[in-house]
Amino acid sequence: MTDTLTPVLSANWNQERSWTLKAYEAGGGYQALRTALTMEPDALISLVKDEGLRGRGGAGFPTGMKWSFIPQDNPKPKYLVVNADEAEPGTCKDIPLMMASPHTLVEGIIISCRAIRAEKAFVYIRGEVLHVIRRLRAAVREAYEAGHLGQNIHGSGQNLDLVIHAGAGAYICGEETALLDSLEGRRGQPRLRPPFPAVEGLYASPTVVNNVESIASVPSIISGGTGWFSSMGTDKSKGYTLFSLSGHVAKPGQYEAPLGITLRELLELGGGMREGSELKFWTPGGSSTPLLTAEHLDVPLDYESVGAVGSMLGTKAIQVFDQTTSVVRAVLRWTEFYKHESCGKCTPCREGTWWMTQTLTRMNAGQGQEGDIELLLDLCDNLLGRSFCALGDGATSPVMSAIKYFRDEFEACLTTPTAELFPPSKSTLFAKEVAR
Ligand SMILES: Cc1cc2nc3c(=O)[nH]c(=O)nc-3n(C[C@H](O)[C@H](O)[C@H](O)COP(=O)(O)O)c2cc1C
Ligand code: SF4
Repeated sequence: MTDTLTPVLSANWNQERSWTLKAYEAGGGYQALRTALTMEPDALISLVKDEGLRGRGGAGFPTGMKWSFIPQDNPKPKYLVVNADEAEPGTCKDIPLMMASPHTLVEGIIISCRAIRAEKAFVYIRGEVLHVIRRLRAAVREAYEAGHLGQNIHGSGQNLDLVIHAGAGAYICGEETALLDSLEGRRGQPRLRPPFPAVEGLYASPTVVNNVESIASVPSIISGGTGWFSSMGTDKSKGYTLFSLSGHVAKPGQYEAPLGITLRELLELGGGMREGSELKFWTPGGSSTPLLTAEHLDVPLDYESVGAVGSMLGTKAIQVFDQTTSVVRAVLRWTEFYKHESCGKCTPCREGTWWMTQTLTRMNAGQGQEGDIELLLDLCDNLLGRSFCALGDGATSPVMSAIKYFRDEFEACLTTPTAELFPPSKSTLFAKEVAR
C-alpha cells in the first residue's frame, strides 16, 4: 500500500466545525498571514514563483509568474478574482474545499492580494451551491470581525475588501474572461485577447484570475518557507494537489498527494476498482481532457507526463469507467453537455457541438450511417484550434480520444444500439443499486 498521501489543504477537513474561524485558528490558521504581513509584496511573489506553484484550474500556468505580470506602474486599482465556478464534468475539489475549510481560501486571498497590491478581491462562485456560498460568506464575516479583512489589517497598512459573488450556473463563466464579463453584469462570453486580464481585466483594470485551489495553496507555501512545497512533486510539476477520484472506484473522494503519483497508486489508496469492475477508460482531468486507458495506469500524474501520452492533467478530476460502460454513450453525454453550454459566440463550436450531438445520438441508437466516424473526426478537426475559446477545443477531446482507443465500439454502433451492446441492466452500477 502506497503511503504517499500528503494532506495539507484537506488536513483539517475531519476536524469538528472545521469551517469556523475558531477551529481554523486552533490548527494554526492565519499564522501564514501574520508572516506574510512582515514580507514585502515582491518577496511573496518570488517565493510562490520559486516554489513552483502552478495554477490548479486546468492549464497549469505558473501562479507567481501570473502575479508578476500585473503592471505596478498602472495607477488603476488592481483586482484578484478567484474562480470558484467549478462546472467541468467530474471536477469536484474546490466546492468541498470551500465547504470544509473556507478560511484556507480567505487567508490565501489576503496573502495573494498583498503580493499583487490589490485592495479588492472577488470570489466568483457558481450559484447552485447555496450551502457553500453561505459558508463562505459566514467565513468572510468572521474574518472581518477578527481584523483579517478590512482597513489596515493588523496594523500593516494593508486594506482589503472581499466580495462573494454568486454566478448563475453557466460552464462558460468559468472561462476567465467570460467570468469577468459576467462579474461586470454582462452576459458571460469570452473576450478577445490581448489584452490579457493582467493588463485589462475587471473594469479594464489589472486583474489576476486564479483558481480556488491555487489561492488556497498559498498559506501553506508561506508557512512551509523556501524549499518545502518544491520538495514534493516532480521536476517541473511541484507540490501536492487534490486528485478527485470518481466513478467505478471502491472509495471515491478527494486524495491529496504529490504531483507525479500514478493512477495505479491512487486506485490502491481508493480501495481499488469496485467489485466486479475492471478499468476500461478514464479521464485524467475532467471531460475536456482526452481519455486514457488501462495501459496508462503507471503514467506519473504531472503536467509533462500526462501531456506526453496525448492527454492533459487538467483539473485532476479522475473519472474511472469499467467494462460495462459504453464509451459511445459516455461521449454522447459529455457532448450534449458541451452543446448545451456552448455560449454561441463562434460558429465552429455553436454548430460543431450540435452536429456532433446529432451524429452521436443516432450512433447511440444503433442508427449510424456509413462515414459517421469520419464525420465526427472532421467535425472535431473544424473545432480544434478554430474555436474562440477552450470550450470548443475541450469538446473534441472525449470524441477524438474515444475513437482512437475504441474505434470498434463506434463501428458496432452503426448497426447496434449501445443499449444492446452495453445493457444498463448489466452495468455494475445497476447491479449494486438492485442489491440495495
Ligand atoms: C469553458 C471553461 C471553463 C473553465 N472553468 C473553470 C473553473 O470552473 N474554474 C477554474 O478555476 N478555471 C476554469 N477555467 C480555466 C480559467 O479560464 C483560468 O485558466 C483559471 O481560472 C486560471 O486559474 P489558475 O491559473 O489558478 O489555474 C475554465 C476554462 C474554460 C475554457
Ligand atoms: S468556443 Fe464555444 S463557448 Fe467558446 S466562444 Fe466559441 S461558442 Fe462560445
